[in-house]
Amino acid sequence: MTDTPVRKTPPVDDWTTDYDIFDPEYVVDPVPMWTEMRQQCPVAHTDRWGGSWMPTRHEDLQAMAKMVPELSSKAPLVVELPEGDPNEDNPDGLNAPPISADPPEATWTRKMILPTFAPKAVEQYRSFTEDLCNQLIDGFIADGRCDAAVDYAQQIPPRVIAHLLGLDPSRADEFTEWVRGVLELGLSDPPVRIHYRDKILTFLREEVSDRFMNPRDDKISELLAMDVPEMNGREVQVVIGIANLLLIAGIDTTWSSIGSALFHFGSHEDDRRRLSADHSLFPTATEEMLRYYSPVTMARVAQQDVPYGDVVIREGDKVLMNFPAANHDPEVFENPEEIQIDRQRNRHIAFGSGIHRCAGSNLARLEMDVAVRTWFERIPEFEIENPNAVTWAGGQVRGPRSLPMRF
Ligand code: HEM
Repeated sequence: MTDTPVRKTPPVDDWTTDYDIFDPEYVVDPVPMWTEMRQQCPVAHTDRWGGSWMPTRHEDLQAMAKMVPELSSKAPLVVELPEGDPNEDNPDGLNAPPISADPPEATWTRKMILPTFAPKAVEQYRSFTEDLCNQLIDGFIADGRCDAAVDYAQQIPPRVIAHLLGLDPSRADEFTEWVRGVLELGLSDPPVRIHYRDKILTFLREEVSDRFMNPRDDKISELLAMDVPEMNGREVQVVIGIANLLLIAGIDTTWSSIGSALFHFGSHEDDRRRLSADHSLFPTATEEMLRYYSPVTMARVAQQDVPYGDVVIREGDKVLMNFPAANHDPEVFENPEEIQIDRQRNRHIAFGSGIHRCAGSNLARLEMDVAVRTWFERIPEFEIENPNAVTWAGGQVRGPRSLPMRF
């Protein structure tokens, strides 16, 4: 897999009418383009990649997240597969619920997973995550350098999710490859996306069916055994969909946030020294990293013509829910382009807003806290080795994919 953004479409002249989420400069630093869009045309449009609308104001993102079911979540990826792929047939949104569904399916499937991610429930994964982070650091600390994205950040979420779901942890590298195949490379390359999506589904079909026949003491068996009348004989299908979502939602996202935080502190010596000297800043620093480097953009599809402000979003049109851009809106954040690791008022929506707000946010915060804190405890002095060698992924989930660090 390549990491460096490659230009596949002509350069953009006007970001308000012709934006390109795969533009190499946008992938590396989208903030100036968001400012231009927000000032000139807060709900921008493009015909590229199948066409879409993109809100960039905090207020608009929050309002649109509430427009259910007019703006449906049944196609949550920012670029769709070409029409006619029978496997993408998703009438009830059960291929990755609750994110791929509208109510009522979104409501009962979300209820099934919320207890797993309650603040107290996720605490049980803290010591596992700490041990994992320490083991990873043991593997490279003597070298005085590592790729903080590949050797560290990328290694953490797939192992935590495998542990949580009860999947074989030795397959964690494959999970990462599959998820990247769907969310990164495959986004702009449908055959690649189908290939990796099918790998995930084939694997999960086997794992879930096996537990249906032979229940174990693990999360997948627990989900299968839940007394949820709506499953109505569809237990295996529903739990494959949920596990599919948890793998996809939990890996690229959290890895990106851990990587972005290390990118920041490896390139901003003042902030690194300040956090190193005062660990009480970790909670606000984590929220500021989530705000400034928010990784996730989701999509909605209009189920009818939806008038919004000066525009009419036509039935079938896609809306890219650019939560990251909302987190740079000067109407809501004082000096949004300034990173303040002690920012007190920080109403960011990196985890989305409304009925699909991230169900795993407590686990994501725990993983970020443990990963960055453990790094700082073991490696308080570090810097990016070669800023030109840092590469970023963009599109659905933005974050560093190669991050050479020396210490
Ligand atoms: C820093 C890391 C993460 C970020 C920034 C993030 C962000 C998001 C966002 C923006 C959404 C909203 C989607 C929408 O409105 O369409 C979402 C949904 C979701 N996320 Fe996360 N996420 C992260 C980590 C995780 C983790 C670790 C898990 C659990 C394994 C997880 C599970 C979910 C689930 C299940 C949903 C769907 C909720 C629903 O549709 O009701 N996320 N996430």
